[in-house]
Amino acid sequence: MNLKQARGILWWGVTAAVCFFAFMAIWRQPTSSAVSPSFVREGVGIGGPFMLTDQNGGKVSDTQFRRKWMLVYFGFTSCPDVCPTDLLQITRLMDLLGSDADALAPLFISVDPERDTPEQLKTFASNFSPRIVFLTGTPEEIKQAMSAYKVYAAKKEDKASALGYTVDHSAFLYLMDRDGKYYAHFAHGTPAEEMAKVIKEAIKP
Ligand code: NI
Repeated sequence: MNLKQARGILWWGVTAAVCFFAFMAIWRQPTSSAVSPSFVREGVGIGGPFMLTDQNGGKVSDTQFRRKWMLVYFGFTSCPDVCPTDLLQITRLMDLLGSDADALAPLFISVDPERDTPEQLKTFASNFSPRIVFLTGTPEEIKQAMSAYKVYAAKKEDKASALGYTVDHSAFLYLMDRDGKYYAHFAHGTPAEEMAKVIKEAIKP
C-alpha cells in the first residue's frame, strides 16, 4: 500500500466516523420525529445547572428543587397561543395531582429575557397555578438554561407586536427526577390527565 492509498483509506475512515456521529447526534435529538408517543423514556442528555430570577425577583437555581421532581417548560409571556395552552394544562395538572402536587415543581423559563422582566412574569403568572415558578434572567443566563435543555428559540420579525418581533420556540415539557436527571418529556398539547398519570406513577416512593 503506497502513501496515496493509505491517505485514501484514512480519508474514508474519518468521513465514515463523522457521518456516524452526526447521525447519532440527529437521531438522539428529542425534536426528531420520534415524539409521537407523547412521552419517551430515554436518557438524551437533557438538563443541567441554571441560575435565574423568579417573578418576585428572587434568585433561583436548579439545585433548590433536588427533593422534588421538576416539570420544565420554555416559552415567553407574549406567546399568542402555544405557551398559554400548555400553562393551562400545567395548571389543571397541579389540581389533578392533589396531594402529590407538593412533589412537583413546574417551571416556566422565558426565552425572551428582553421583554420578560420579573414584573412582566408576575402579571402573566396571575393567569395560572400559583405553584408555577416563572423564571427569567440575563440573555447569557437564559442561553445557558436553553442549552442545558437543548431548547430551540429564534426571534422572528412580527409587525403586529409592540417590540416588532415574536419568538419561535420548541415546546416540550421536560419531567426531571429528584436528582435533576431527565425522566421523560411531553409534547405540546399533552392533556393534563395524561401527564398526571405518568407523574403519579413516577413519583411513587
Ligand atoms: Ni410559546
